[in-house]
Amino acid sequence: MNKYIHAGSPQFFAFNVWSIESAKAVMDAAAQTGCGLILQTSMKAYEQLDKEGFRTYVKDYGQKNDIKTYLHLDHCRKMEYIHEAVDLGWDSVMIDASEKPLCENIVITNEVIRTARQKGVLVEAEIGQIRGQEDDISSVKAGIAGMREIEEFLKNTDVDMLAAAIGTVHGLYKGAPDIHYDVIEQTAQITEIPFVVHGGTGLSDGELLRLLSYKNVKKINISTDVKLAYRRGIEESIRDGAMEPKGFDPLRVERRIHDSIQQMAAEKMELLKKGRTM
Ligand code: 13P
Repeated sequence: MNKYIHAGSPQFFAFNVWSIESAKAVMDAAAQTGCGLILQTSMKAYEQLDKEGFRTYVKDYGQKNDIKTYLHLDHCRKMEYIHEAVDLGWDSVMIDASEKPLCENIVITNEVIRTARQKGVLVEAEIGQIRGQEDDISSVKAGIAGMREIEEFLKNTDVDMLAAAIGTVHGLYKGAPDIHYDVIEQTAQITEIPFVVHGGTGLSDGELLRLLSYKNVKKINISTDVKLAYRRGIEESIRDGAMEPKGFDPLRVERRIHDSIQQMAAEKMELLKKGRTM
């Protein structure tokens, strides 16, 4: 079993990507910084991918360049995709049944664990509701996970990673983030199961470093920042004339987008390294 995340494993940023090109940009940041990484696909991105081609590219490029890369299916609500990703060699999957009552969330999560374990694939589950929009998954409720709920969930599932809502949001923050660090701390007192933080975009370096100071936080998700970096690459291309009809230069545009994503991801990875020395 490729149990790449566990109580003693390193901490990771997990970046949402949607193509070989966006994956390569993040992997180049990992090569640059010497950090491992998780590449994750939302359900919507997963639907659009040539999945086998994507997996083969990511695994080959990782091996060739000595980059520890793990593939994760993010916020999945469709059993058929979970089965397929497990069969195709994704390293982990997230079942998102957080909008269901707790008892149903437990039943669904256990069903996913049964499927995934057979192939050594890890399972992440969500409790409480993480607010905001992540591609086609959205929630307007701010449901901070309660400790009783977390305990009950952990007593009844053997999940590998726990994403509990702590006040971070998917997408851009309206106002200052109100992060319930106490939920992370109290969870560490009852379990060694790795804690996953969603909604990493928009958190300051200080907030990210504080999250990384909790040794049970093993995965912090970054999605919107990848898209914003992509956008900056296009904006730079417009500014420097690479998008003009005369002299239009797709290679230069793609290089700008790549470099913009790589730079953003490398900056986050440097925080991982800084966190290790604190
Ligand atoms: P952000 O878009 O806020 O970075 O959230 C990403 C995320 O949590 C994906 O599951």
